[in-house]
Amino acid sequence: AKIAILISGRGSNMAALIYAAKAESCPYEVVLVASNAASARGLELAEAEDIATFSHPHKGLSREDHDEIMHQAVINSGAEYIVLAGYMRILSDAFVSKWQDRMLNIHPSLLPKYKGLDTYARAIEAGDKVAGCSVHLVTPELDDGPVLAQTEVAILPGDNADRLASRVLIAEHQLYPNTLAKYVTREADPDWILEQVRRRAL
Ligand code: GRF
Repeated sequence: AKIAILISGRGSNMAALIYAAKAESCPYEVVLVASNAASARGLELAEAEDIATFSHPHKGLSREDHDEIMHQAVINSGAEYIVLAGYMRILSDAFVSKWQDRMLNIHPSLLPKYKGLDTYARAIEAGDKVAGCSVHLVTPELDDGPVLAQTEVAILPGDNADRLASRVLIAEHQLYPNTLAKYVTREADPDWILEQVRRRAL
């Protein structure tokens, strides 16, 4: 399967997805990395790995118009799936519906807990024993689509948000390529996917 990765910054999940795709057994291929910021550090890494890149600033454009530019870039690349990896833009309903069931996101919490930002501090403040990350399908509501898979990460005594974030990130880098690989492989069987979504077992 051909995938396009959308980023806005560091791109460490993007890197994990690219490196995982080098295994011969990997069922997906990264055909494009696109960004709303030409300065996104991940673009440089993608270029060095010989992956096509695209960027277009959102400044001065309506949300719909910017999304349409990104959509066309993805279509031109031949990608069949969009994988959001730290793409810090809320997407228009029109864009989301064009990619229904073909767009995944990773979020650094055990959804449905802690949608939005500052997930680590919120988990620590709440006295949670575990934090983690979730891969989910993207629906119009922020961080709200069906969860495909999660990894729990224990919160340690004395953790702060930065320390917790760096351990959750290690889990993200494993969860995202694994889940994407399973998703694109079994996608032909919607009943199987629905069952995995119900059990969060992908
Ligand atoms: C990750 O924590 C991811 O869960 C969230 O944004 C961050 C992106 O980091 N959606 P990176 O750009 O992949 O390093």
